[in-house]
Order: sequence, then C-alpha cells, then structure tokens
Amino acid sequence: MIRVGVMGCGVISEVYLKNLRSFGIPVAAVADLDAERAAARAEQFQVPALTPDELLAHPDVDLVLNLTVPKAHADIARQALARGKHVHTEKPLALQADDAKALVHLARSRGLRIGAAPDTFLGSHLQTARKLLDDGWIGEPIGATAFMMSHGPERWHPNPDFFYQAGGGPMFDMGPYYLTALVHLMGPVRRVAGTAQTTFSTRVVESPNRFGERIPVEIPTHVQALLEFERGATGVLVTTFDVWHSELPRIEIYGTEGTLAVPDPNNFGGTVRVRRRGADAWSPAPALFGFSENRRGLAVADMALAIRDGRPHRASGDLAMHVVEVMEAIHISAREARHVEIVSRPARPEPWPIGYDETALALDLQGERQRDPS
Ligand SMILES: NC(=O)c1ccc[n+]([C@@H]2O[C@H](COP(=O)([O-])OP(=O)(O)OC[C@H]3O[C@@H](n4cnc5c(N)ncnc54)[C@H](O)[C@@H]3O)[C@@H](O)[C@H]2O)c1
Repeated sequence: MIRVGVMGCGVISEVYLKNLRSFGIPVAAVADLDAERAAARAEQFQVPALTPDELLAHPDVDLVLNLTVPKAHADIARQALARGKHVHTEKPLALQADDAKALVHLARSRGLRIGAAPDTFLGSHLQTARKLLDDGWIGEPIGATAFMMSHGPERWHPNPDFFYQAGGGPMFDMGPYYLTALVHLMGPVRRVAGTAQTTFSTRVVESPNRFGERIPVEIPTHVQALLEFERGATGVLVTTFDVWHSELPRIEIYGTEGTLAVPDPNNFGGTVRVRRRGADAWSPAPALFGFSENRRGLAVADMALAIRDGRPHRASGDLAMHVVEVMEAIHISAREARHVEIVSRPARPEPWPIGYDETALALDLQGERQRDPS
C-alpha cells in the first residue's frame, strides 16, 4: 500500500487525514513550514511531524499529498517528483499552464504519478450526472451554465490572504471545481473568452482571529467566461467573490432532449435532477454511486489503486493541467480582449463502475475485490 506524506497542515489537512485513515491508507508523516501546525496535526492523528525537507527525503513516503497554499503547489510537487515520490496536490496544480505542463512531463519522464484536486467529481452527484448524460437522458449536450456566486472566504477562513493573491481569486480557487466537473461531463474545452474585474481593492477579514484586518486584493475577483467544448457544445462560467446574493443554479447541462441540474461541485453529494422535453416537472435521480459525504482524498485512494493495478488514475495531471490552461486563458482573454485557443485535450476521466461505493473501495484497497474500478 502506498504510504503518504502530508505537506501542509492547515485547515483542509484535517479532513484529508481523517479520510485517509478511514480508507486505510497509511500516513507516514506530516510536515509544514510552520512547525507548530505540523506538531498539532501530528498529535491529533498520532503520526510523526517532520520538517518539509525531511518529509520530501523520507524513505517511507511514497506519495506526497500537497496541501500547501497555491503559490507553493508547483514547487513542492517538483521537489517531490525530483525525489522519486508520486504527488497529489490541492488545486490548482500550478499558477501557470507552462508550469503545470512541465510538472506533468516531469512525472511522466520519471515514471511517477501526478494528480490534483478537486476529487469532488468522484462524488455521487457528479458520477450520477455523468451516467445520466452518457446514457442519453438529455440527448446530445448542446450547452452548459455554471455559476459560483459568493462574497469571498474572508468571512470564515482564519488566513484568507492567499485567496486574494496570484493562484487565488474566484477562478483559480473555485474554478477548478466547476471546470473539472464540466470537463468530466462534457469533455475538454477548445476555446475561451473572458472578462475579469477587481471590484474591491482591499477585503476586511471577518474570521475571529484577525477580525477587522484589511488585506490587499492582487487579482481579479469577478471573472466570467464563455467556453467552447471540443464536442461542439458551448458554456458560460461565472466565478465571483464580489456578489452578496444570487439565486442562480450551480451547474445546468442542456441537451437536445432535456436538461440536467447538477448540484454544487464543491461538495460530494446532492440530488441530480433531470427534466426531459415534454415533462412538466423535474425528476430527482437516485444516487447511483457512493461517496456522497466529504471524501476529500478519494483521488489519493484511486491513485494508490491505479499504481497497484497499472491503470490511469482519474484525477490526473493531464486533467488538472487542462483546467489550469483554461483558467489562465480566461484571464489572458480578459486582458487582451480576444478569444484564446486551448491546446491540451485530456481524455474524460473514466467514470466509476455502476454502484461503486465506500464498501467496494474498501474491498479494492484490501485486494479482495475481483474487479478493479476502471
Ligand atoms: N480550506 C478549505 O476549505 C479548502 C477546501 C478545498 C481546498 N483547499 C485548498 O487546500 C490548500 C490549503 O488550504 P488551507 O485552507 O488548508 O490553507 P491554510 O493556509 O490553512 O494551510 C496551508 C498550510 O500550508 C503551509 N505551507 C505553505 N507553504 C508551504 C511550504 N512551502 N511547505 C510546507 N508547508 C507550507 C502553511 O504554513 C499552512 O499551514 C489550498 O490550495 C486551498 O485552495 C482548501
């Protein structure tokens, strides 16, 4: 079994460590630039705390789970690969498409795996939506809309600075959930156009530890995009940290025979609804898969199985690289007032087999299931 080293012991590390434990995936050590944070998580989960350099060099670490802030993602991933470790990183894979591409190439050239968040597309809602789409319930997809409307994370996150620096902003922070979900459902994007604006030059922290502190805004915080998918369908994506209230849906997919309403891609569960032409109401779809609770780290389990079984892992570097390229291109389009072509064309990730759930995963991880989940 792959042994994981967790780099970055901030807010999100808790649920990852909890889930890795529940999957039975061993954690060899944790590390953070801030030794106190590493020590606290180490104490909580009864694992060793190391310095970042010690973790990267540790012989018991096969895979580095990179939960640092966005601007450190590419550098940590590069160092881990250079030391012969597989990597799964929080989103975004890198801040620039060239960096993301270089990481994927480095991993490939070294025979190592690289993958990235989000893994919410492995949740019951997005897998159910994919099944309905692929089985033709709405006919041929013609378009999609996706809306991430919010007023930013400074109201709850203890250290929200990174959300307003390069690698943050609503597109780089939340866009990966929406774009990964859209590519999982619709396939890769071939061309984009965008607009981007910075509405407020500073933000006021409202979380209790830094209440009232003003932090500078260095990136656009209201970003809108037109997407053209390789398959011919088109889409609209709006991501914002500037809007107080909205009643827009999260994701809708429009087909020649009907519409799919897809719940929040930042979660794992929620009810998918379908309304075929002629129907006078929406029908809730039954959840056809497990993983409806917060299972962050599920992609690490899938990567561990993929390595063992010699098959591609689902939350792949190619997929994450494509998402970075699309997000970057949206910002380029906004700056230069032109459409931007997308070069990368990742395959849609393989869906789970029908009914795949926590029990099937546990059996797979124990080597007791006959069929691997590809
Ligand atoms: N907080 C959430 O709800 C959430 C949800 C999903 C994804 N994420 C993503 O997870 C990542 C981490 O988010 P967070 O909320 O845990 O942030 P955080 O600020 O709470 O924690 C990040 C940790 O990384 C450490 N760190 C930074 N640079 C480092 C380096 N070079 N080497 C080692 N450690 C380093 C910091 O000291 C900090 O403890 C981000 O990419 C974020 O987008 C967060």
